[in-house]
Amino acid sequence: MRVLVAGGAGYIGSHTVVKLIEAGHDVVIADDFSNSKPAVRERLETITGRKITMHAVDLCDRDATDHLFTDEKIDAVIHFAGFKAVGESVAKPIDYYENNLGTMFSLLRAMERHGVNIIVFSSSATVYGDAGTSVMHEELATTAVNPYGWTKVMGEQILRDVANARPQMRVALLRYFNPVGAHPSGLIGEDPSDVPNNLMPFIAQVAIGRREKLNIFGGDYDTKDGTGVRDFIHVEDLATGHVAALEALGRADEPVKTWNLGTGNGVSVLELLHAFERAADKKLPYEIVARRPGDLAAYWADPSLANEELRWHATKTVDDMCVDTWRWQKNNPDGYPD
Ligand code: UD1
Repeated sequence: MRVLVAGGAGYIGSHTVVKLIEAGHDVVIADDFSNSKPAVRERLETITGRKITMHAVDLCDRDATDHLFTDEKIDAVIHFAGFKAVGESVAKPIDYYENNLGTMFSLLRAMERHGVNIIVFSSSATVYGDAGTSVMHEELATTAVNPYGWTKVMGEQILRDVANARPQMRVALLRYFNPVGAHPSGLIGEDPSDVPNNLMPFIAQVAIGRREKLNIFGGDYDTKDGTGVRDFIHVEDLATGHVAALEALGRADEPVKTWNLGTGNGVSVLELLHAFERAADKKLPYEIVARRPGDLAAYWADPSLANEELRWHATKTVDDMCVDTWRWQKNNPDGYPD
């Protein structure tokens, strides 16, 4: 298939591009570089040995998006193009709704006009909200506690409604748990433009000396060591999950499929920190501070549906995640060049 990877210059998108090409697909990247750098193209070309087609385009722009579909013969879309910082979404809700829903609308309009029926959407475990359980399975009700989360809940609903109206549509809603890690080459990885909000990039920046210490948000949760517990998944596993989902949609008889992409294992903040210390072979300073508002104590995926229906399993360990993140961070202490 010739796959439009919307937001393909970003962290998860770029890793998925590699897996798509390795699986024999053609890829067209579209990205506005609001949270990524064009330099990723050269890195992708080195890894894959292929020329990468990459368009600088604002996917909220309906006409520009439509032109892209006219110029490139697209068979399927993987939609990563969205803002993703929870705190920022609370401060700038209009930006989040406008951008995350705007990209969705122009992609769906262009797909309709050009007869493209397959779309894989980047959703998030955030849609489970506080479900009152630690193991999240796809049948749970969805909700949100911040504008970022609502854009994911709404994005899923828009896709369900569109698929309902167009029976030939095939939609995958992929709910990611906590993506971490990097390509084993050390050439591509997560490159936060500001102070990292998420745990793994923060730990990596402490290890490289860009931050003094890790603040651990809460040491008194009812968990194995008092710190928060999450389902960290290697971005390489997440990327192969997208390829599996895309291929499964081709043989699906239902219009909308929802799959958790996680390992099914709960790992604590302290366990992740200690795994990183092993990878970097150094002690990393930390301090236990107050809980972060809105955080849940512990949750992880029930990945059995994806395991069965996609014949996909996460294979990488927490040590793999830390070793690969550290290699990327060491080789690129300041992220991608401008
Ligand atoms: C967060 C978002 C989630 C989003 C996901 C994207 C919140 C509340 N949730 O998930 O909606 O889909 O990112 O990747 O922001 N931690 C520290 N110190 C830090 C950073 C994090 O102790 O400097 C802890 C957190 O309290 C949490 C764990 O590490 O227990 C993971 O945090 P994070 O990486 O931000 O991910 P989530 O909060 O799970």
